[in-house]
Amino acid sequence: MRCYLHAFLLSMVFTLLSLLYVFSQLASTLEDSDKWSLKAQGIRERSSHDAPDLLRKKPGLEGLRRRDRCKSESVSYWNPYWRQPADVCGVNCLLDSRQRSGSAAKAKGDERSHLAVVACGPRLEETLTMLKSAVLFSQKPLHFYIFAEDDLHEGFRDALDSWPRGVQTKFTFAIYPITFPKENAKEWKKLFKPCASQRLFLPLILKQVDSLLYVDTDILFLQPVEKIWGLLFQFNSTHLAAMAPEHEEPRIGWYNRFARHPYYGKTGINSGVMLMNMTRLRDKYFKNDMTAVALRWEEILMPLLQKYKLNITWGDQDLLNIIFHHNPESLYVFPCQWNYRPDHCIYGSNCQLAEQEGVFILHGNRGVYHDDKQPAFRAVYQAIQKYQFGENMETSLLQPLERSLRATTHTYCGRASNQFTKRLKLSIMSVEQDITSGR
Ligand SMILES: *[C@@H]1O[C@H](CO)[C@@H](O)[C@H](O)[C@H]1NC(C)=O
Ligand SMILES: *[C@@H]1O[C@H](CO)[C@@H](O)[C@H](O)[C@H]1NC(C)=O
Ligand SMILES: *[C@@H]1O[C@H](CO)[C@@H](O)[C@H](O)[C@H]1NC(C)=O
Repeated sequence: MRCYLHAFLLSMVFTLLSLLYVFSQLASTLEDSDKWSLKAQGIRERSSHDAPDLLRKKPGLEGLRRRDRCKSESVSYWNPYWRQPADVCGVNCLLDSRQRSGSAAKAKGDERSHLAVVACGPRLEETLTMLKSAVLFSQKPLHFYIFAEDDLHEGFRDALDSWPRGVQTKFTFAIYPITFPKENAKEWKKLFKPCASQRLFLPLILKQVDSLLYVDTDILFLQPVEKIWGLLFQFNSTHLAAMAPEHEEPRIGWYNRFARHPYYGKTGINSGVMLMNMTRLRDKYFKNDMTAVALRWEEILMPLLQKYKLNITWGDQDLLNIIFHHNPESLYVFPCQWNYRPDHCIYGSNCQLAEQEGVFILHGNRGVYHDDKQPAFRAVYQAIQKYQFGENMETSLLQPLERSLRATTHTYCGRASNQFTKRLKLSIMSVEQDITSGR
């Protein structure tokens, strides 16, 4: 009898143990699929970066509706993906909702810097060079939001897909058509030139994205993108965007001499490099000079344009200046070495921090990468454009650049060009060190 009891107890213990094992396996599958989905997300974004386009080609709205439903279903421990309605999106739901929750609530562990650019007309090559500079020096992963006219999409995709595999692991990208928010699209289109003003609508188009670094196509990063991304974390509780002053020197400033509308601060702000906490931007009520009540971002743009359209010169940058004129506590102003333009050296050097620390981000506005007016700017552009991935950056990028900068000392910017290479040198050293130490 005793013997039977023993056997019975033993088998009970065994059953319990195997049950425990099954549960632990289940739990770890769940964890694994989480980790996997983070990795797969990168792949998915790369391989189906044109998902909106693909879906649109499907008959009717079916594709879109499925996708929307997919996005509204959230995957969690209590609602794992195998319990999602099968017709919704299958395993993609896991990826989609992971991506959504990932970006919506500043994903735990989302180390990526999110970079947006708007490219139209002949800007393909310039934009690719900008993206290349982002990839070259960054050591943390990147995600690109590329808004472009339809006929540029293929060019972007082909070029980015042709970059070496090792380089491709550093970034993911998605290509978008130039669009306006669904609500009032018609009215928006009547009032705004599509390409020029696209950046104003990014918070409304990329509704799921928490924060974004917007840059013009004529930007070159001379240090890792994660450095400027880090400024987001220095925002105080009222900051929601960050930009550099339009000018350091009021005597040659544009806004303070010519503007026929309000502008931020002493000399206005330049929107070519713009960090945004879009979560805050979407939540904020903005003071303004049109109504007594404060207005949401999506409410303020159209009346603003209507009021000032006869008085603005630089388009959407002027609108941003008006908005932050009335809401100065919302703007974090970063210094000129984060958005260094010909204005900073054309009549002599006037960006002090660039003299000390070097240029962090170069902004070749007014076409200076492509003409003879500022050869020092063009030299930097051409050096990065000509550099081939995989070559030694010191001998194939830095040294040729220093040689061509030496031929520009007949210009003020050329004489200041040690500022152009000061930070770049450090960035290159740290990347090369990483390569040789086998990371
Ligand atoms: C536009 O500029 C004119 C001329 O400087 C000025 O009188 C007018 O008040 C400006 N309009 C607005 C809306 O500020
Ligand atoms: C943006 O602001 C929201 C709301 O204040 C905050 O939860 C989020 O962490 C901020 N994002 C970043 C990158 O700091
Ligand atoms: C945040 O900083 C800005 C200046 O950049 C300032 O005007 C604002 O009052 C600050 N907000 C808080 C809550 O301290």
